[in-house]
Amino acid sequence: MSFAIPNQARLRLNRSELAVPGSRPELFEKALRSEADIVFLDLEDAVAPDEKTKARSFVIQGLNDLDWDSKTVSIRINGLDTHYMYRDVVDLVEQAGNFIDLIMIPKVGTAADVYAVDMLVTQIEQAKGFGNRIGFEHIIETALGMQNITEIAAASNRNESLHFGVADFAASTQARTTGIGGANPDYSVMTDRLEDGSRAVHWGDMWHYSLARLVVAARANGLRPVDGPFGDFSDDDAYASAANRAAALGCEGKWAIHPRQIALANAAMSPSDAQIAGARRILDAMREAETEGKGAAALDGKLIDLASVRQAEVLVAKADQIAMG
Ligand code: COA
Ligand code: MG
Repeated sequence: MSFAIPNQARLRLNRSELAVPGSRPELFEKALRSEADIVFLDLEDAVAPDEKTKARSFVIQGLNDLDWDSKTVSIRINGLDTHYMYRDVVDLVEQAGNFIDLIMIPKVGTAADVYAVDMLVTQIEQAKGFGNRIGFEHIIETALGMQNITEIAAASNRNESLHFGVADFAASTQARTTGIGGANPDYSVMTDRLEDGSRAVHWGDMWHYSLARLVVAARANGLRPVDGPFGDFSDDDAYASAANRAAALGCEGKWAIHPRQIALANAAMSPSDAQIAGARRILDAMREAETEGKGAAALDGKLIDLASVRQAEVLVAKADQIAMG
């Protein structure tokens, strides 16, 4: 056990995070009324270059006109490698900063990127005297960002979450796919011949390493790990499979790029009744074991010990957080 226990980011439900193009203000209210835990209004890649200025004013107006009290709202600004970014931050935070919960920074490459945005936001918040403090969500979606993920995760006390941006990450690493997340038939293992001469092909998850690395960097810094988009919004089963995989690794949530993915994310990212009941049985059994002076015990023919208590407590705490809404 280390004595350096990370501060935990502000507690928020982040099971589903709905992407909404900032250039489509007719979607803002639908997003607000949806079951998504977080809505992010996008100024970056879902907005064409000619629409950037218009989208910025739509988002400012949407933040001011609609009642976002009941919803966590995030704004995805443009990347630091574009000339849109400074005005995104200045205009958005000056004109609607008191309604913004989070700023999502795409293509974060270094800790200095985080510092730059933090500096701007801090100055504007101070100048305006806003009572709220805007948090940061970082999309890790470049080889550089993945290389520097440890420093990025620790770069600001505004940091709340790290997100895996699978499509840009694939482009940056020159992965041979044009899909947005999901399985890739080329990323598979062919078995040797079995006794009957047949061979099996097992599909792998080509995003496993990156997502697992992101989970570690996030958790080591008290942040929420969040899995990014799944582009084939017609394939609910494949979305659920990807979301379950991310949840199994420790992610708190997954993006929804279409409303139909919201319920799938919320379900995958919520422990099931059976998992919660199982966790409570472990806690009960260990409490009983402790009264008998034992730190390890058997439950259903399996070892449980104090680590099992910590694992079970994670599940129960998540269930309690969801129940509180
Ligand atoms: N937020 C809120 N509502 C949305 C929505 C969104 N992101 N996407 C679609 N809807 C609404 C539609 O307006 C429609 O509402 P209606 O039933 O009242 O008419 C309903 O959900 C069904 O939409 P559908 O017709 O199936 O979708 P579409 O063809 O209009 O749009 C996309 C499909 C993928 C273009 C659209 O969902 C989208 O822009 N998603 C976000 C993309 C994005 O932000 N990407 C950046 C991050 S990866
Ligand atoms: Mg991206």
